[in-house]
Amino acid sequence: MARKIVVTSGKGGVGKTTICANLGVYLSRLGFRVALLDVDIGLNNLDVIMGMERQVVFDITDVVSGKCRVRQALIQDQNYPSLYLLPSSHTYSSSKISGEHIKNIIDIIDHSFDYILIDCPAGVEAGFHRAVFPANEALIVVTPHLSSIRDADKVVGLLSQYNIESKGLVINRMRGDLLLSGEMMNIESIVKAMNIPLLGVVPEDDVVTKMSCDGRIMLDGESARAFTLLAENIHSGCKKIYDCTYKYRGFVGYFKRNLKKIVD
Ligand SMILES: Nc1ncnc2c1ncn2[C@@H]1O[C@H](COP(=O)(O)OP(=O)(O)OP(=O)(O)O)[C@@H](O)[C@H]1O
Ligand SMILES: [Mg+2]
Repeated sequence: MARKIVVTSGKGGVGKTTICANLGVYLSRLGFRVALLDVDIGLNNLDVIMGMERQVVFDITDVVSGKCRVRQALIQDQNYPSLYLLPSSHTYSSSKISGEHIKNIIDIIDHSFDYILIDCPAGVEAGFHRAVFPANEALIVVTPHLSSIRDADKVVGLLSQYNIESKGLVINRMRGDLLLSGEMMNIESIVKAMNIPLLGVVPEDDVVTKMSCDGRIMLDGESARAFTLLAENIHSGCKKIYDCTYKYRGFVGYFKRNLKKIVD
């Protein structure tokens, strides 16, 4: 049976799709069979960031409407053969797809994968229900901003109405330079406010920005180490957290930090 993890946040644009895609790649690199489900119906972002947009023949709505079987809609990643994507579509009324439909799809592929990662849309309406309903674990993504933390806190409250057995926190877009100068909310305060176990911290990284433009996952940059640790933490339950401040420490780091301030 697969672990079914929904990646959610409440607030939009905090990095759910980015984390879902990268986690898929890094878990498959650890040797696991991973299926990514784009349940953000109407906005097909996951196939774009994975560079699979042109390979889409069938999508999740075709599966629900009976036009094809789940296996026909799943796209295998060309670089990571144990990674598959079930793409969303933007041509179908999302109201016709329910949480039960997604659960039925998951039940069919459950035994073929170790992980099923569900990319949840922003908000807490029907789309949220559809993505959370079939999951049994949740990754809550926040950025170090009060608005994101408030929205995520509401999501955590709502999750108690579902069959979610464990929750983990991912702090995305952390800036090591601002952390050191005390100009950004620190990790301890965020964890305290959210009151759920921290599974990962992902730095703000230009490589991630480039990925969303190029449509491919790159395995370099600061974020690569952070995603590796996140995948390991999720799998093994260890708690190794990436230190975003390390490159801004010491004599050289001090100059980097100040240079960044001048350039910005
Ligand atoms: N760690 C990061 N460093 C730099 N840019 C990032 C990082 N994480 C996400 N981004 C950028 O932020 C933008 C939003 O990310 P993404 O689409 O993953 O968010 P989302 O939560 O899925 O949004 P939505 O709620 O609309 O589905 C993208 O352009 C992405 O490249
Ligand atoms: Mg998204």
